[in-house]
Amino acid sequence: MKQFILEDYQSLCASVADQVFMQLSSKPDSVLVFPTGNTPLGLFEKLIEGARLTKVDFSKAHFVVLDEYADLPLGDPRSLTGWLKQELLDPLSVSSDHIHGFEQGVEAIERVIAKLGGIDLAILGLGPNGHLAFNEPGSAFDSNARRITLTPESIKSNASYWGSEDKVPREGLTLGLGTIAKARNVILMVSGAAKISILAQTLHGKVTPANPASSLRMLPQSLLFADKAAIS
Ligand code: PGA
Repeated sequence: MKQFILEDYQSLCASVADQVFMQLSSKPDSVLVFPTGNTPLGLFEKLIEGARLTKVDFSKAHFVVLDEYADLPLGDPRSLTGWLKQELLDPLSVSSDHIHGFEQGVEAIERVIAKLGGIDLAILGLGPNGHLAFNEPGSAFDSNARRITLTPESIKSNASYWGSEDKVPREGLTLGLGTIAKARNVILMVSGAAKISILAQTLHGKVTPANPASSLRMLPQSLLFADKAAIS
C-alpha cells in the first residue's frame, strides 16, 4: 500500500482532492465512491471549491453510495445518502440519475456498479475498529454489498451524530470488501491522533478479517493518504 503522509489535515484534503481532479480529467464519467464521517468534510470543501472555480467538471460523473442505515423511512434525517447529498452532491449540482443508493437493495447496487463499468475511485474512511464503510470486524474480504448488524462500538461512535445511542439504527447496508477490492483505485483517507493505533495495526499488524481495513494491503491499487497526526 503506497503511502502519502501530509503535513496537516488541510494538505491531506487538498492532496486527496487532487486525486479526484486527476481521475475526472482522465475520465469525466468516472464512477466515484465517497465516505461518510468527519474525515472527508474538508475534502468535500475542496471539491466544491474546485467545481466553483471550474477546475473540475462533475456533471458526467456517477456517485455510488458506500453505506446506509437499513429500513429508514423516506426522508429520515439520519440517512447517509441524504447526508452525502447535503454535504457534497447538492453543492456540486449532481443530478439524481447520477446518484446510486441502496433504494433498490443490496443486489441491485452491485448490478448498477457492473452496468456502469465498475468503480473507478473509492475513497474510504478508517473506522475506530478498522471498519470500512459498514464492513465491521469479521467481514469476509470477498464480501459483496449486503445488510449487516452494527457492532456496539460503531453504534457508540455514530451516536454523536444522532444525539444518543438509542437513536442509531441497529442495521446497515454496505458495499462489501469484495466490492471495494474490485475498484480500479482505492484511497484510504486518515486524519488525527485518534486513528494512530488502528492505522498502525492496519499498516503493520496481521492481515485479518478482524481488522477489515487490513484487507487494503492485499490490493495493489490501494493508496493511503494520512496526515502526520495519524502516524505515530
Ligand atoms: P470518521 O469516521 O471519519 O468520522 O473518523 C470514519 C469511520 O468510522 O468510518
